[in-house]
Amino acid sequence: MMNTMKLPPLESLKTPFYFYDLSVLENTLDELKSIESKFNFHIHYALKANSNNEILERIQKKGFGADCVSGNEIQRALECGFDARNIVFAGVGKTDDEISVALENDILCFNCESIPEIEVINELAGKQKKVAQIALRLNPNIDAYTHKYITTGLEENKFGINAHELNDIIELLKTNVHVKLVGLHFHIGSQIVDLKPYRELCSKVNEYIHFFEQKGIHLSIINVGGGLGINYNEPDSLNNPNFNTYFEIFHNFLELRPGQQLHFELGRSIVANCGSLISRVVYVKKGINTNFIILDAGMTELIRPALYQAFHKLENISSKENDHEIYDVVGPICESSDCFGKAINLPLTKRGDIIAIRSTGAYGEVMASNYNLREKAKSVYSIS
Ligand code: LLP
Repeated sequence: MMNTMKLPPLESLKTPFYFYDLSVLENTLDELKSIESKFNFHIHYALKANSNNEILERIQKKGFGADCVSGNEIQRALECGFDARNIVFAGVGKTDDEISVALENDILCFNCESIPEIEVINELAGKQKKVAQIALRLNPNIDAYTHKYITTGLEENKFGINAHELNDIIELLKTNVHVKLVGLHFHIGSQIVDLKPYRELCSKVNEYIHFFEQKGIHLSIINVGGGLGINYNEPDSLNNPNFNTYFEIFHNFLELRPGQQLHFELGRSIVANCGSLISRVVYVKKGINTNFIILDAGMTELIRPALYQAFHKLENISSKENDHEIYDVVGPICESSDCFGKAINLPLTKRGDIIAIRSTGAYGEVMASNYNLREKAKSVYSIS
């Protein structure tokens, strides 16, 4: 059960709102920091998961880097104090403007996804009389056994460079002198809970390290992306997320060469657990075979269930009833996919009750929309 003590008085707040328990975030960051130091890894927080300043500033203060996928994310990271030399920039469609912003600020590395992109970075870096550091995002063709919309490392996905292009790229780099190849980048998908694909990834990375070594190319950055999943069914369970097992896989199975740094880009596992979407029951409605709980939060505040059939634990945090009932919990939007869960066992629920939708700290608020002309829900932070 969520620690409701940290919620500000509900009477003063308009629902729905995003609630962030900053002590949960701090604990996660401390655990991560100690693992990072133990293994001498470099962790970049993936801003796309949650880019609220209050959250970013806390992550930055612990000394983590940033993983950005747009010019605006780079700007936001810089505004929140992240060191440009600790920012990496990914994405299949980086525009000229975005590349220029990154170049002006001398970010650590562009994770490049295609030959035309490398050529454009070279051209724009030349105009600024700079040499941009690049890593090649390679498509390792590994199934991450996650939802098809968030798997990225298969040949059929739009991401990354395929192995057959590598010799051409090595040739290209000889003449494109405003880019310098410093590393390799991989990211096989998101919400990965069966960690075996990461072992497979290590084997693939080892092959690529060997390949570049044979070509006489020294790579200082090996970036294995992010994707570590969390337990949405039991948000308060121990070892959620399982950082230790995840990092040990890379520690044990990667064959890094002297001088090679290992980088990660984690998003969800850092911020998901600190957030809940707090909503109020507008109506309890009798259906033919089911009872509906209709919330004032919907797919506009949390699209994950509609988009990926994702489950987020639902808790009635105001009911004192001992009796339970089975409900379909839905939002108010005019779409049948606007449903948070079917056949959910909850204490007897009535109009006005407060429902917490858990683990919404990642890919919740950042994916909000104003469909149906709905207002943007506010963010509320725990009082420490
Ligand atoms: N690095 C790259 C290159 C990525 O594309 C992503 C996520 C990450 C790192 C961070 O992955 P994470 O550690 O958060 O799994 N909206 C979806 C997730 C999309 C993930 C996109 N890329 C969801 O709600 O599940």
